[in-house]
Amino acid sequence: MRKYISVIALSLICGASASADEGMWLPALISERIGDMQAKGFTLTAEDIYSISQASLKDAVVLFGGGCTGELVSPEGLLLTNHHCGYSQIQKHSSVDHDYLRDGFWAMTRAEELPNPGLGVSFLEYMEDVTDKVLKGYEDSMTEEERQALVKKNSQKLIDEAVSGGKGLEASVEPLFYGNKYYMFVYRTYTDVRLVGAPPSSIGKFGGDTDNWMWPRHTGDFSIFRIYADKDNNPAPYSEDNVPYRPKKYFHIAAGGVGEGEFTFVYGFPGSTREYIMSEGVRYISDISNPFKIALRTMRLDIQKKYMDEDQAVRIQYSSKNAGVANAWKKWQGEMKGIVRLGTVAKKQEFESRFMDWADGTEYEGIVPALDSLYKELEPYMYALDYYNESARTIELVQFAQRASALASAGKDSALGAVTDAFFKDYYLPIDKEIFVAVMNSYRENVPADFRPPYFDSTLAVYGGSVGKWADALFSTSVFCDRKAVEALGADDTLALENDPAVEFGREFSSWIGENIRPAVNRLNMEINLLNRDYMRGQMEFQPDKVFYPDANLTLRVAYGHIKGYSPSDGVYYMPFSTIEGIMEKDNPEIFDYNIPQKFRDVVATGDYGRWGEDGSVPVCFIATNHTSGGNSGSPVIDSRGRLIGINFDRVWEGTMSDIEFDPDFCRNISLDIRYVLFIIDKIGNADHLIEEMTIEQE
Ligand code: ARG
Ligand code: ASP
Repeated sequence: MRKYISVIALSLICGASASADEGMWLPALISERIGDMQAKGFTLTAEDIYSISQASLKDAVVLFGGGCTGELVSPEGLLLTNHHCGYSQIQKHSSVDHDYLRDGFWAMTRAEELPNPGLGVSFLEYMEDVTDKVLKGYEDSMTEEERQALVKKNSQKLIDEAVSGGKGLEASVEPLFYGNKYYMFVYRTYTDVRLVGAPPSSIGKFGGDTDNWMWPRHTGDFSIFRIYADKDNNPAPYSEDNVPYRPKKYFHIAAGGVGEGEFTFVYGFPGSTREYIMSEGVRYISDISNPFKIALRTMRLDIQKKYMDEDQAVRIQYSSKNAGVANAWKKWQGEMKGIVRLGTVAKKQEFESRFMDWADGTEYEGIVPALDSLYKELEPYMYALDYYNESARTIELVQFAQRASALASAGKDSALGAVTDAFFKDYYLPIDKEIFVAVMNSYRENVPADFRPPYFDSTLAVYGGSVGKWADALFSTSVFCDRKAVEALGADDTLALENDPAVEFGREFSSWIGENIRPAVNRLNMEINLLNRDYMRGQMEFQPDKVFYPDANLTLRVAYGHIKGYSPSDGVYYMPFSTIEGIMEKDNPEIFDYNIPQKFRDVVATGDYGRWGEDGSVPVCFIATNHTSGGNSGSPVIDSRGRLIGINFDRVWEGTMSDIEFDPDFCRNISLDIRYVLFIIDKIGNADHLIEEMTIEQE
């Protein structure tokens, strides 16, 4: 083991040839990159980015709600993230009477800030290489199961020790480089986080799903929250007595403007990338899973849209769900195209054949063919599981029935009440039913009989082979369609509930998949992971001059690059900045996604942009070469002096394959220019009290 670790340590430090701007680096090891960052324009030190002995920029960055990033911008706990990251909170506070999604929301006093049960933000206290501790007691003769058990036991001990020392501490031990390294991440989590401001969706989601994942972009994708703490600044559950959190560090804002070619760095929590997997793994994504998942989601989106267009109440109910479905749907399309354009599969095959020649006679001999055959063996099972997840598992009534029946049987009346309220607030049965018919028909056509539950075929036979008739029965006889009936349920109803058609559907599918598909998927994935550990190490030895960064895993990373346009196709060049002129060009009251609020038009007509203007306009978004991923939404985009110049929220369509292959010519992250954020807070929200809290530097 020792030998492997030193090889990795060496390649992390020495190499210098990672392709321009590719990479998501561990903050604790940023001293290895700081020379390159400084050469590219950064003026601060590694300690300014990450330190455990003094306040550093990391103390102004949070993991927001378990899937986004946020940054602190005032000494009183004010936090910026994306509108789409705060979307479900904004939506939960909205109704037809108070439609904060449509109209925006601005707390004019602290008392008006809205609590969000269930929302937490986590600060990274420190991260630590615990590889030796986690593998303490490991012997070469151990099986993979024994190794995993050891890793689990040793990790738990480390975690217990780490969290014993303070309020709100949480920790996790994560494998990096497929388990060639382990790091512990210790967080402090605050759970009283209140909504302070959000622009109307016609600004915060301007361009909607039409512009999503695209450049040029004009989306005002931000929302504002505030962290509250107890009197000692420690995490505490929501209480009226809590006070605004006083951060160790918050970002100063650079409002003087940024130019093409300037250095930027993004500090945040990218969720998941797979840069080092072999060609077969990529082929499954680009040729098989992305295409069928896209087709299934197209059906769901079309159905949702039809009903949302007919009724404003349904639009509010389904806005968040619809955006969730649409987001991955569109990304997968760009990703697939990118993989095909780059020829990633063929390139990887060519790499694998050179690797195999090199590996001949070494401990790495045979890894590639073994991985190849494992991937092929996995494919039909993975397909069956992915198809199930994107079809049968998406039926809302079924999901609700399973949760609610379990709560009813356990006699948990108050939890049942809460789940029931939340479900019916945003449920529209005709959508769910039509989706059932569409996706289950596809399931029948596309999943081979051996890979689907016999229950599916036998029930279908009862309805003469008609999914539509099945849906008619299920959506009229299930007790879970009827709110009053659900509210009346109790532990005595357990038996009857077992036979409810929605409960039965969920149970039969999940138990059959659980017994017949999942075990194979788990076993094969475990074997693949195990081989990937060796393959990863082998790749590092094979390419001693290349610098490797660990795949993203929702841990804090630094990505750096510079502001830069790109050419999406022959004869076309995209400039790196957009302005409010572009908003006015797109503005169209007839098109939902491009209907900017009247107040915005009025402000633009006055031409008074205050301190936020530049050359008679206001900058809105910009693109740069930072390597980001899902989870980086809301991340601070930082200038060469460590100041906030933007909020990251997306990537360009032609570059969405960056989770698998980063291409410096096409991969760009999209950020909101901080001046547009301030312009909206000021001129649309009239919330200058928030701007007063911030430290704004004009130079
Ligand atoms: N594409 C961005 C990201 O992956 C923004 C998503 C916002 N959602 C939407 N459906 N427009 O998260
Ligand atoms: N929009 C993404 C997010 O929500 C960011 C990305 O995938 O580039 O994290």
